[in-house]
Amino acid sequence: MSVQTSHIADALAGDFADRLLGWYDHAARVLPWRIAPHSDAVPDPYRIWLAEVMLQQTTVAAVAGYFARFTERWPTVADLAAADDADVMAAWAGLGYYARARNLLACARAVVADHGGRFPGSEAELRALPGIGDYTAASVAAIAFGRPAIVVDANIERVIARHRLIETPLPLAKREIRAALAPLVPRDRPGDFAQALMDLGATICTPRAPACAICPVMADCRARGRADIDRLPVKPPKKAKPRRHGIAHWIEADGRIWLVRRPGKGMLGGMRALPGGDWINAPLSESGVASVDHGFTHFDLTLTLVRREAPPEVPDAAAEGEWWPISDLDAAGLPTLYRKLVGKMLEKRG
Ligand code: ADE
Repeated sequence: MSVQTSHIADALAGDFADRLLGWYDHAARVLPWRIAPHSDAVPDPYRIWLAEVMLQQTTVAAVAGYFARFTERWPTVADLAAADDADVMAAWAGLGYYARARNLLACARAVVADHGGRFPGSEAELRALPGIGDYTAASVAAIAFGRPAIVVDANIERVIARHRLIETPLPLAKREIRAALAPLVPRDRPGDFAQALMDLGATICTPRAPACAICPVMADCRARGRADIDRLPVKPPKKAKPRRHGIAHWIEADGRIWLVRRPGKGMLGGMRALPGGDWINAPLSESGVASVDHGFTHFDLTLTLVRREAPPEVPDAAAEGEWWPISDLDAAGLPTLYRKLVGKMLEKRG
């Protein structure tokens, strides 16, 4: 790039951030973990980290209630670090991706043990904490600490892929998107800049039928007006998901059912669950009283509920289980898969 064209590129970059932030100043969504633009309030890294971990793979609407309950019960990272594992896992139930809840606790404990209860501010130190990957490190560094990190989530990916007409399919496009975004990040408001891009992606540059006419960076958007704008960013071909099959047992006595805790590692690790066998690839011959289909990231599961008379006699398995009052199943913190199955069973019984 010549000196002159690099000047032009700098000017356009500054202009991009100005237009975006000018829009954000009046259009920013009001969110429980967010400091409003130009507010004097100091961001709380704990709340920002918690929100970013919760928001991965889910929507603002799905997270709001969980965020409120967590911050009321555990207002600081030290409170969370001191919590019982079982309480945190139960409070997370329904958000999915349970390894994240285990890492959440491990991270809170590491912040207390290794950093005196204060989150470090650099991306590198943040990334060294349990469960904090590139995205979370960048977003916390930018939003909580004002570091000029390059934050790329799915919304931001979409905005930049369209603005720059990046037609390389994901995930290969990620490098191009980062490279296009890097020079646009303003040094004075990197956190607001990242959140402004997220809001733009959530409210205007939506996956389908984006509202280009009211977009603050429409003037130089290379995909604007294209009939096929919804295609961007180009997704990789969808892989067919395998289906697995499993049995869950309904073991009832005196108004209670037998619940177990799943092993710490693996699917739904550490969560309360109905007892049952392994999930296997072949359909099962046993027919049950109810069944549910549930989608995980890498496979779909058909889980069939079968009545059993008594818990297994194996001492270890018995030690991991407990009789839980059917009238209080809401408080058991069951993952969505089991909640659905229990719901069907209770509906049947009337
Ligand atoms: N999605 C992920 N992080 C977010 C944030 N900080 N604000 C809005 N949406 C988000």
